[in-house]
Amino acid sequence: MTEKIIILDFGSQVTQLIGRRLRELNVYCEIYPFNKIPVLDESVKGIILSGSPYSVRDKEAPRIDLSGIKGRFPLLGICYGAQYMAYHCGGDVNASLSREYGRAHLHVVSKCPLLEGVPDNSQVWMSHGDTIARIPENAETIASTEDVENAAYRIKGEETYAVQFHPEVFHTEQGPKILENFAIRICGCKGDWTPASFIENTVKELREKIGEDKVILGLSGGVDSTVAGVLLNKAIGKNLYCIFVDNGLLRLDEAKDVLSSYKDMGLNVIGVDASERFLGALKGITDPEAKRKAIGKTFIEVFDTEAQKIEGAKWLAQGTIYPDVIESASVKGPSATIKSHHNVGGLPEKMNLKIVEPLRALFKDEVRRVGRQLGVKKELIDRHPFPGPSLGIRILGEVTPEKLDILRKADDIFIRGLRSTPCEKGLKSASDPLMEAETLYETIWQAGTILLPVKSVGVMGDERTYEYTIALRAVISTDGMTADWVHLPYGFLAKTSNDIINKVRGVNRVVYDISSKPPATIEWE
Ligand code: XMP
Repeated sequence: MTEKIIILDFGSQVTQLIGRRLRELNVYCEIYPFNKIPVLDESVKGIILSGSPYSVRDKEAPRIDLSGIKGRFPLLGICYGAQYMAYHCGGDVNASLSREYGRAHLHVVSKCPLLEGVPDNSQVWMSHGDTIARIPENAETIASTEDVENAAYRIKGEETYAVQFHPEVFHTEQGPKILENFAIRICGCKGDWTPASFIENTVKELREKIGEDKVILGLSGGVDSTVAGVLLNKAIGKNLYCIFVDNGLLRLDEAKDVLSSYKDMGLNVIGVDASERFLGALKGITDPEAKRKAIGKTFIEVFDTEAQKIEGAKWLAQGTIYPDVIESASVKGPSATIKSHHNVGGLPEKMNLKIVEPLRALFKDEVRRVGRQLGVKKELIDRHPFPGPSLGIRILGEVTPEKLDILRKADDIFIRGLRSTPCEKGLKSASDPLMEAETLYETIWQAGTILLPVKSVGVMGDERTYEYTIALRAVISTDGMTADWVHLPYGFLAKTSNDIINKVRGVNRVVYDISSKPPATIEWE
């Protein structure tokens, strides 16, 4: 049984970061909404209470019964979690006279395992409107800042700790040490949760769960479905039936290359060329939403038809990952969402399929590490995200074979250029913060090319031209929710522009998109 720490989410925007930091210590953890506490069996080594946008004094503040937790499991309250524990155990929490946001310096006033090895006066990050005016009777203050006396406290005789600051954010210098002290020293976690141990356990679990049943998986060429496929293949081999749909909107040679990579990896994969069908469905459509709907509907129909051919299938596998399923209940309400391209319509009900999601517990960079450990090729692992509707939403307006041909060639020049241009030394990879980037491509979170439906005048040789414009887009982001444009070197932009205009017929102008998200989006449609 994998040992774990449970994080109870009271709705803080940085709860996921607590999980990230623990995973970096090779400690497995799971995040649950505060009002959906899971069964606390012997695999649970400790519990963390997160921050929250609420004040404990609010009428509608999130509350839980700590009686089955406090004193029974090692417990760490962070920010609201610390205030809630104080309030719950008879301390006082008041509105602080000055709201405390930003940097402060931590003065350790009493030795304890939580702050072991934390030097005096290290920087911590505060973000709270309330303050713990009085700690509970049986508690002792273990650290203070200039403005906050009870910046950290512990309950005597228990492994119960509380910190007013946020150890999970980057600006708290000793945050990783404090979380390590809690997870390893106090909870006794072994810190042995690695990609290799994840693979070993998951393969075992998948074999037990699936037995001799047949499983269907849709492969997209993206990281998540690829890693899910390779993992399932390791567990159940030929009983995994993969379907790869070529929607005719993929990048240059992508369908061919991806399919042959899958075959090389030994996957049992059925390639379906549905290009004509998708292009037919898009004919005459110019509205972005209508295009997305047409592509989505066609995908489901094609996938359904292929899946029905696999007789006796019992399971549908999906490449769902952890950020897709984390529920943030306290503020937003339960929201287990599944990305649209993972959601293959009504297939599970229609074919009476059960769902299996082997990557459900992993963050994206962890999926990449597992993929690397499984020996998946670098080009498949470090790929930028690519939208389900593919180039269909990168050709503004109506999609035609002629425009697809132009866009594919321009995109290939841009992406090849990024992949073959070395970057400055010491930059981090945009897809895995634990790795150093080697090429421009690796410093970017997502890059692509857009064909604009406007023609403009140019001159080539002695001739006047009237041709399309290509926009280049390259962004840095962590989750696609916000993004900023990348400051690509001018020399690189100049070369790319030249190459595209010289080599791609139909294009006489290249522009670079310097909009951030918000207010723009990453894709143009
Ligand atoms: P936007 O354009 O909304 O994109 O800033 C954010 C991220 O989501 C990707 N994207 C999609 N992915 N199906 C997908 O699988 C879609 O319909 C879709 N639309 C946008 C986009 O490429 C970016 O990474």
